[in-house]
Amino acid sequence: MAVERTLSIVKPDAVAKNVIGQIYSRFENAGLKIIAARMMQLSRAEAEGFYAVHKDRPFFKDLVEFMISGPVMVQVLEGENAILKNRELMGATDPKKADKGTIRADFADSIDANAVHGSDAPETAAVEIAYFFPTMQICAR
Ligand code: TYD
Repeated sequence: MAVERTLSIVKPDAVAKNVIGQIYSRFENAGLKIIAARMMQLSRAEAEGFYAVHKDRPFFKDLVEFMISGPVMVQVLEGENAILKNRELMGATDPKKADKGTIRADFADSIDANAVHGSDAPETAAVEIAYFFPTMQICAR
């Protein structure tokens, strides 16, 4: 299994619930290392750019509004099989369908306020990491 990096976002709903630390513990307990992190208030343009792949979907406008509704915590996770591992920790997009014990099952309220983002493939992980972090701000360890 390869060591991978993935882009993770604790979304505004989870930041507002004050569960950043609980979510970080899940990453660490699963063997994922946080190798870069920043808290930020996304601008509309930044949120639209990040989710550009969804720009023609009916939920796009609401998704952007949600992502700019408060600060987010953005991090790069590194570890064996990090992309899939993070997706497993997150659970299904719709928290009602997410497995028990996943982040979304435990902290998300709805499909549009679903607590976390995680890259879904190596190509998207590379693009998403570069969207938020210059190489020199990533602390490989
Ligand atoms: P998607 O990439 O399909 O899900 P995931 O975050 O699990 O990779 O969708 C991106 C985000 O768009 C999703 O986290 C929440 C929002 N979304 C909706 O609001 N409604 C929907 O029906 C879908 C599919 C997504």
